[in-house]
Amino acid sequence: MRRAAILCVEDAKQMARRRVPKAFYDYVDTGSWTESTYRSNEEEFNKIKFRQRVLIDVSTRSTKARVLGEECAMPVALSPCGFGGMMWPNGETHAARACEKFGIPFALSTMSINSIEDVAAGTTKPFWFQLYVMRDKGFVKNLISRAKAAKCSALILTADLQVLGQRHKDIRNGLTLPLRLELQSVLDVVSKPAWCIRQLSSKRWNFGNIVGHYPGADSVLSLSHFTSSQFDTALSWKDVEWIKSHWGGKLIIKGIMDPQDAKLAYLHGADAIVVSNHGGRQLDGAPPSLAALTKCVEEVGGKMEVYLDGGVRSGQDVLKAKALGANCAMIGRPWLYGLACGGEEGVTNILEIVRKELDITLGFCGITDINDVKGRGILLSSEES
Ligand code: FNR
Repeated sequence: MRRAAILCVEDAKQMARRRVPKAFYDYVDTGSWTESTYRSNEEEFNKIKFRQRVLIDVSTRSTKARVLGEECAMPVALSPCGFGGMMWPNGETHAARACEKFGIPFALSTMSINSIEDVAAGTTKPFWFQLYVMRDKGFVKNLISRAKAAKCSALILTADLQVLGQRHKDIRNGLTLPLRLELQSVLDVVSKPAWCIRQLSSKRWNFGNIVGHYPGADSVLSLSHFTSSQFDTALSWKDVEWIKSHWGGKLIIKGIMDPQDAKLAYLHGADAIVVSNHGGRQLDGAPPSLAALTKCVEEVGGKMEVYLDGGVRSGQDVLKAKALGANCAMIGRPWLYGLACGGEEGVTNILEIVRKELDITLGFCGITDINDVKGRGILLSSEES
């Protein structure tokens, strides 16, 4: 990978688009229905403007911050994303390794290609595990036990996928895993020979946490069919208590968009929430996650940690989220783009880009330590901007 060719997340996105078969690229770069919430996540960040300050000594600066009790290189974590291993062989292990070397948390999805055990074997530090709740509670209990055995340091319960938001591109592409080789996808896949050779050599083409562990999940899967037949549509706050009792460790609830739900998450003993609309992939028509952040912070900030994801594309976005009260910004698609560009090195490059942008923007705002960013002081008000 020529790092010089990738100077920002958008560069990585364009390179990923060229390198990865269309069905997998589209799976990443898509939202549900009209994709209006997907688009709005990024647009919302652009509405917020910084207050430029000058003639302040900013010769030493620090982006270090604590996230869920751990000292991190910056207040950033990778959001759990399924299918990572289709961007690069053993993709999730590559990304987890990039995170541990960089010093930020990595979150492994239930729907990852590498299993919990694969990632644990390929890394030395604990990672977070994201849980989807299936109807088969025996399987869920087993997943939790596997995450415990792998010494995962937090469990993220994703609460916004009881039903699946329809993503037109996946239907049009006939997305299945393993990829069903219709003529169109054969032509597309062979037009990406480097990807093809890498994937063929890795021989990992399916969901490592599920296939072999979940009855009936070892044939070709249509994601929407698997979700609608297996995910628990009855999931409720009662299950949070059940999950907590089996897990016994730190719990993060992801997919909170309403201050009432933030409060309920707190009352049910979560250690943190992720204000998230699933990157615009679930309820199209939901507000941008950044717009939902302030009210959630007002409700529970200070009592529990509040993270944000959706549309974070730069270190500047991380700083805006921090100024609006998030303890940590999480990034989804950008790490998948980085992975597609160059495996572990590609993800590291994305993290370095984000940290550099964050560090330099701190300087422009006259701040030397990211922990001094408290409240909106570094931002212009809506009347000023
Ligand atoms: C996701 N997301 C997601 N979330 C989750 O809790 N479990 C999962 O398995 C997945 N899978 C997944 C796959 C892909 C391809 C994407 C893009 C997203 C949602 C993810 O964790 C996060 O909420 C969003 O990606 C954040 O938005 P950005 O950073 O992608 O704009």
